[in-house]
Amino acid sequence: MHSLYVQNYEKEVELNHNLIKKEIVEKFEKKFGLTNLGTASIREIVQLVNHIQEETGETYVRMEMGVPGLPAIQEGVKAQVEAIEMGVDAAYPLIDGWKGLKEEASKFVKNFANIDVSPDACIPTCGSMQGTYAAFLIANKLDKTKDTALFIDPGFPVQKLQMQNQGNKFETFDIYSFRGDKLGDKLESYLSKGNINSIIYSNPNNPSWISLTEEELQTIAEKAKKYDVIVMEDLAYFGLDFRKDITKAGEPPYQSSIAQYYDNWVIFLSGSKMFSYAGPRCAMLIISDALYEKEYPHLEERLGAAKFGRALIYKALYPLSAGVNNSAQRGLAALFKACNEGRVNFVEYAKPYADKAAKMKKIFTENGFHIIYDLDGDEPIADGFYFTLGYGDMKGDELLKNLVYYGVSAIALVTTGSTREGIRACVSHVNANQFGDLEDRLKAFAKDFPIK
Ligand SMILES: Cc1ncc(COP(=O)(O)O)c(C=O)c1O
Repeated sequence: MHSLYVQNYEKEVELNHNLIKKEIVEKFEKKFGLTNLGTASIREIVQLVNHIQEETGETYVRMEMGVPGLPAIQEGVKAQVEAIEMGVDAAYPLIDGWKGLKEEASKFVKNFANIDVSPDACIPTCGSMQGTYAAFLIANKLDKTKDTALFIDPGFPVQKLQMQNQGNKFETFDIYSFRGDKLGDKLESYLSKGNINSIIYSNPNNPSWISLTEEELQTIAEKAKKYDVIVMEDLAYFGLDFRKDITKAGEPPYQSSIAQYYDNWVIFLSGSKMFSYAGPRCAMLIISDALYEKEYPHLEERLGAAKFGRALIYKALYPLSAGVNNSAQRGLAALFKACNEGRVNFVEYAKPYADKAAKMKKIFTENGFHIIYDLDGDEPIADGFYFTLGYGDMKGDELLKNLVYYGVSAIALVTTGSTREGIRACVSHVNANQFGDLEDRLKAFAKDFPIK
């Protein structure tokens, strides 16, 4: 059940209270060939807003980029610097990763997600971005008859680009109308066709910040098992559902995961948001021990390796980058170790995102906006890195374009596979000292676009 806010807004409006002149926005839209902001990529919005800021001297409330807005946790930095100075980067890395990192990653998922997986199956990648790229390459070659992936959307747009680059087929559906007990039938409608090789989603979700409930994870597991498909769970925001504190090592509650319900999974664990360690481009791709050993005759035929784990490491990751920066692996290992030993509480560290989200949501909703993806089961979604916004029945691309005139930037939801009309707001680069500006700008916006 979702709250319903679909009201009309006045469409025949004059912009009277806008901060940025229409002509300036239009000049740069034309210059960069942006005929529809609704379909513009994040980087294109960044470029547009940078130029408007430069020309007008106004500072935007910038909500478009999903980049960390906190300094990196120091344990990682120190360990990486030491490793560089020790000279580890003179050599090529081992393709399946440095033992010290593999061991700490395995302990980390045991401590905070109650997942049992051997260090061998914890493999570093150049960011989760590379992890998904490699996993998509392999998932597509498991079975001749299963040539299509299934995204539970909304999702991280770059993963679709990865699929397109690989020439892979994929299907997607927006989970908005298929939460809870509706999910099973929806999955069944795709999986029963017999052509699906994998199910992909992020949890907590970029862009909507929904978190799948335990029942929904069980449903995914049950359907995946029935049709023998692998589940790819992107935990880029591990632990950042701030409604539950998962930080007591070895004690519930834990990060929710498909691993509790199913055997054939791949999990992507990124240091970018958890530890604000995006630049070193080091993440973990973790394969369940069962899937690591599972043999696929078609993989053998295509790549000369039958086992999923070996194919992924030696046939997909190897040709992509021949391993991951040695010193970055030491940095990430130090971060996992510090968490495992209770010296760093990464969830506490990231809490400022939740505080900002709560305040920003209040400012938006007090000015006529509504949160689109608002519930997990019966519970309001957590405050966190992202949230989604609609305004009356305004189309997502219109909303984005109109907000740009008032000094607020974001991305349209349509780019994420969402079927809802609205935008994604990322809180990480909004400063608390901008909340006053945000409020003033939204008040001005609401005056020019009154909800009827
Ligand atoms: C859902 C999701 N997956 C993966 C990534 C990328 O992670 P990494 O920086 O480790 O490549 C992001 C970054 O925004 C993300 O939102």
